[in-house]
Amino acid sequence: MKKLEMIYEGKAKKVFKTDVDNQYIVDYKDDATAFNGLKKGTITDKGIMNNTISSKIFQLLEQKGIKTHFLQKLSDREMLVRKVEIVPLEVLVRNYAAGSLTKRYGIPEGTKMDTTILEFCYKNDEYGDPFINNYHIKAMNLATEAEVEIIEKEALKINEILIELMKNINIDLVDFKLEFGRTPEGEIILADEISPDTCRLWDAVTHEKLDKDRFRRDMGKVEEGYIEVVNRILG
Ligand code: TMP
Repeated sequence: MKKLEMIYEGKAKKVFKTDVDNQYIVDYKDDATAFNGLKKGTITDKGIMNNTISSKIFQLLEQKGIKTHFLQKLSDREMLVRKVEIVPLEVLVRNYAAGSLTKRYGIPEGTKMDTTILEFCYKNDEYGDPFINNYHIKAMNLATEAEVEIIEKEALKINEILIELMKNINIDLVDFKLEFGRTPEGEIILADEISPDTCRLWDAVTHEKLDKDRFRRDMGKVEEGYIEVVNRILG
């Protein structure tokens, strides 16, 4: 397997072509941003920790029948994935109120939602990843109705699996963000990453934050949160 030219660089990851058809390498960086890139920094060894956590979670999801882009963890920072075209949607799943939900609706942080909330944002940095609904998605041709149906179903299934997984390591899954992709055959599968960058993870007893909110809010001990998640997940 040969790593070829970089085809995409995002805020937290780089994607490279390989000499194998339909397989890419994702390379996890230590760079951290928040508030649509307004706040920038690095979290020491975040790339290594997020690759470890994401790989483990994708493997567990695959075992539970969720189709993902994950093929193999190649090295500390590299993951081999299936080639997909990312559907330009950020799929947000919320079990407890936090972050933008608390600001939008005035719900106190930590409030348990009566039912799971599913939201879509349009993945577009220039416009700050704005909120979007099923009508926009269809009208803007971002995904078909059938694709949105699959995405919603899979996101809720993934939520149930992740809640259970996190419960077993004494973590409350507050909320998280997913991205899906289209394979060259047109199948919708889970892509991107699942890590403390993209989830809110609170210790179930102390409610201590073990995720990127420590960076977003300058709470300190950022690396310690990620290390704690790695240790619990690798058990
Ligand atoms: P929010 O409360 O800021 O809308 O975020 C909800 C969840 O989505 C939280 O776990 C962080 C994650 N998220 C990302 O992974 N990337 C993003 O760009 C945003 C806005 C949120």
